[in-house]
Amino acid sequence: MTSTSEHIPGSAGVSPASPPEYDRALARAEAGERLERREIASLIGCAAGQERLLAAADRVRQRALGPAVHLRALVEFSNHCRQDCAYCGLRAGNATLPRYRMAPQQVVDTALAAARLGYGTCVLQSGEDPAYDAQTVAGIVRAIKAQSEMAVTLSLGERPEADYAAWREAGADRYLLKIETTDPALFARLRPGRTLQQRVACLQALGRLGYQVGSGFMVGLPAQSLDSLAGDLAFLRDLPCHMAGIGPFIPHPQTPLAGEPSGDLDLVLRCLAVARLLLPPAHLAATTASATLHPQGRQRALAAGADVIMPNVTPEHYRVHYEIYPGKIAPRGDMPSYRRQIEALIVGEGRTVGQGRGDYGG
Ligand code: 5AD
Ligand code: SF4
Repeated sequence: MTSTSEHIPGSAGVSPASPPEYDRALARAEAGERLERREIASLIGCAAGQERLLAAADRVRQRALGPAVHLRALVEFSNHCRQDCAYCGLRAGNATLPRYRMAPQQVVDTALAAARLGYGTCVLQSGEDPAYDAQTVAGIVRAIKAQSEMAVTLSLGERPEADYAAWREAGADRYLLKIETTDPALFARLRPGRTLQQRVACLQALGRLGYQVGSGFMVGLPAQSLDSLAGDLAFLRDLPCHMAGIGPFIPHPQTPLAGEPSGDLDLVLRCLAVARLLLPPAHLAATTASATLHPQGRQRALAAGADVIMPNVTPEHYRVHYEIYPGKIAPRGDMPSYRRQIEALIVGEGRTVGQGRGDYGG
């Protein structure tokens, strides 16, 4: 048995055979023991162990959370962004993208329509768009909370702590801010003008303010190593985060990373499975990026430890311009029929549709 690491594009140098320490690491992980970073790297780096790893994650998900898959209605309300992330189609430097902003009342109306269909959570997401100042966002949150029982999740990027505080006071329950990568050099290269430290500080502020905090990262970024991904997973564990999204990098033609290969779905699934073993009660998304990369991406993620799907409820004429990466899978039909399709997918996987808000620890 060798542990050669022939480089597969987008796969961070995966080993085909399981190294001797693999079995011990897997057993320790399933028993809830604290893994070393090199043990995490061994689990995600071994294609031969994938079936056993995913089965262990599925068992841990079942024990910790049961069969429910929670649905979060995603409203992409503005594709303006002041940042220039090298991987993202919404980057400020992408002059070819038609930009839009939904009016605050439209955001509220879309969220309330989702509530009437039975969604227990709405996720309000945008690029980093200062046009929505703290008071505007607080007003949107207040209006949704006053007219529905929904949990409100915000995902608006890095903002001053005072903004996060105002939104929490307005009733926001959760905040998503992916760390993207914990490799400081890679972070600095891919997110010009920003530092890993600043992003970590935002996550810590959100935690202090009492948000349920979501984070996550991309798999298959250029020059990302297995050790770096192991660091990302250890970061999620140590935060600790209540929710996470882990998905493949998909190159966008209007970005500096246009010529790079996509991330490898199997490696994404192994990262997701390890995230489940490290964070048994966390809500983990079967990401849209995984579904975009592979027709069974969502189903495979659900079988690898995921328990959340975020159906997109953004009005279509806006949604088509929220092009973070190309080919993003689009809802078919109107909001009610799309919900029925997603419910059928969940039931088809032998799972149940989560009722209520699907809070952390709830
Ligand atoms: N491929 C996959 N995911 C991406 N994101 C941004 N660009 C890409 C890409 N090219 C993800 C990041 C970010 C969110 C807006 O979308 O994780 O948090
Ligand atoms: Fe803006 Fe987020 Fe895209 Fe970076 S990843 S350019 S912050 S939308």
